[in-house]
Amino acid sequence: MLIRIDKFLADAKVGSRSEVKGYIKKGRIRINAEVAKKAEEKIDTEKDVVYFDDTKVCGKGFVYYMLNKPKGVVSATNDNLNQTVIDLIPEKYQEELFPVGRLDKDTEGLLIVTNDGVLAHNLLSPKKHVSKTYYALIKGFVTEEDVAMFQEGLDIGEKKPTMPADLHILKSQEISEIEVTICEGKFHQVKRMFQAVSKEVIYLKRISMGKLELDKRLQPGEYRYLTEEEIGLLKSK
Ligand code: URA
Repeated sequence: MLIRIDKFLADAKVGSRSEVKGYIKKGRIRINAEVAKKAEEKIDTEKDVVYFDDTKVCGKGFVYYMLNKPKGVVSATNDNLNQTVIDLIPEKYQEELFPVGRLDKDTEGLLIVTNDGVLAHNLLSPKKHVSKTYYALIKGFVTEEDVAMFQEGLDIGEKKPTMPADLHILKSQEISEIEVTICEGKFHQVKRMFQAVSKEVIYLKRISMGKLELDKRLQPGEYRYLTEEEIGLLKSK
């Protein structure tokens, strides 16, 4: 498909249409080996590879999106009943994209969507212990005793107790506010850890993964292209 380079870059969330025009003017966009000169230039999405500051944007290369997953959407590539996180990305760029790991249907927050299987494998490998931080609202008063139990490891019905998790109380009240960092990825892990201390998670949002933090400007359902620096952060774990 032939498409104008500025539209292609804006659709891929490199920036707004006027921002990407600025990048083109500054010579930061390359189509294959050539620096793009004009916003009106067309690329062939089947053949051309586009680079922004030497990072492949799309075409034959890899793409990396940061998505703020909204509630009610499933972390899958297709689903007969529910909208998926991939459905949030324009159809023409969906091919081969998948979410890195899963968040529950009712969980919000940081999800990486990419076509880079190696990166996904490294981030999800249980051996790598990539940390994930969640912000949550908890029914009931979260206590220092809970903090100690999260640090010790909890029996959530698996063969082994959970690995030490850092629980940080932001507000202890009838509906408490906390942040918790875990370095495993067991099914419903945060909810099950709170169940193990007889408490219930009523809102859950992932705010970071490894060294990558969710961009606070992204509203639920919004996504953007990862910067080269952020891709580097993910690759360094
Ligand atoms: N823990 C959970 O319980 N749910 C999620 O979606 C992620 C971590």
